[in-house]
Amino acid sequence: MNAPASPAEALRGTLAELLAGLPPSQAASAVERLIAKYRGDTPTHAPILRDRADVAAYAAYRMPATFEAVRSALEAFARAVPGWTPEGHVDVGGGTGAATWAVTETWPGERDVTVLDWAEPALALGREIAAANPDLRGARWQRARIGSSLTLEPTDLVTVSYVLNELAEADRAALVDAAAAAAPSVVIVEAGTPAGYARVIEARDRLVAAGFRVAAPCPHSAACPIVPGTDWCHFSARVSRSSLHRQVKGGSLAYEDEKFSYVAATRLPAAPAPARVVRRPQIRKGQVLLDLCETDQRLSRTTVTKRHGGLYRAARDADWGDPWPPPDEPA
Ligand SMILES: C[S@@+](CC[C@H](N)C(=O)[O-])C[C@H]1O[C@@H](n2cnc3c(N)ncnc32)[C@H](O)[C@@H]1O
Repeated sequence: MNAPASPAEALRGTLAELLAGLPPSQAASAVERLIAKYRGDTPTHAPILRDRADVAAYAAYRMPATFEAVRSALEAFARAVPGWTPEGHVDVGGGTGAATWAVTETWPGERDVTVLDWAEPALALGREIAAANPDLRGARWQRARIGSSLTLEPTDLVTVSYVLNELAEADRAALVDAAAAAAPSVVIVEAGTPAGYARVIEARDRLVAAGFRVAAPCPHSAACPIVPGTDWCHFSARVSRSSLHRQVKGGSLAYEDEKFSYVAATRLPAAPAPARVVRRPQIRKGQVLLDLCETDQRLSRTTVTKRHGGLYRAARDADWGDPWPPPDEPA
């Protein structure tokens, strides 16, 4: 008997079936329309995802990438709070539910799940896709508008994935405050652009002011050491490309890298990484160059050479976004 599919595999299969059911030219033109909308003025005053064609195109084109980004952020968070599993999860601006899938991939099992969004077609398709994930069987898909009147039911974990970008400043603040009031753990993910990073920092500052500690990616909860405008903290998640991606973007690469920025903050006891690798490591002959964000609010470059033995082997395996040093290879 075959082992049951992981949430990641089940999601891939379900989205491939969804894509197979869409007329190719219609799917590609819906994606192009969405890309143009997302490039346009934000915030929006009405849902961008208006009908099933929009939503199916969004799910087939963007959901694999937002799923991988959230999964990666949650994995870093889970390492900082070992042994903890959320019993309840609210995904705000959840759309077709990418973050709910990522939560079940990180912490398998059924829990109390609520997805909130103002776009009914997104919720409807999200519910349909979630039928392939037994852990999402009981999920509630509810209409809600993010704004000053938003209140969230108490829960263990709130996720906000690729949503802040669509909100005006006052609504971003209201959303972060509502999340902080509802749950002891809040994970926010945005595109890995300078503007996405700026929105993450704005949310991080608000969460810290509300008494949260940053569990990931930062090794501390003090101010970010990046001088605004000079750089931006972001990470990368590998995503398999579908035939729709190849059709819209051309080329034949089997994958692409989704860049994202995030903050995972909590009121739970947490052990943030001692330092984090904040760029792709550079592997040279006999040495590895690591750019690190460190506990003492400093960015630094460290060179690990063959003479460091086990630490050198660990550095060769280290990836952008990993904690450093690995727990079994103390510096
Ligand atoms: C880019 S999509 C992200 C969807 C999902 N979280 C993901 O990561 O794939 C942004 C979502 O935010 C929702 N949204 C934007 N503004 C909203 C608002 N004011 N109230 C409720 N939902 C909103 C949109 O309908 C859409 O589903």
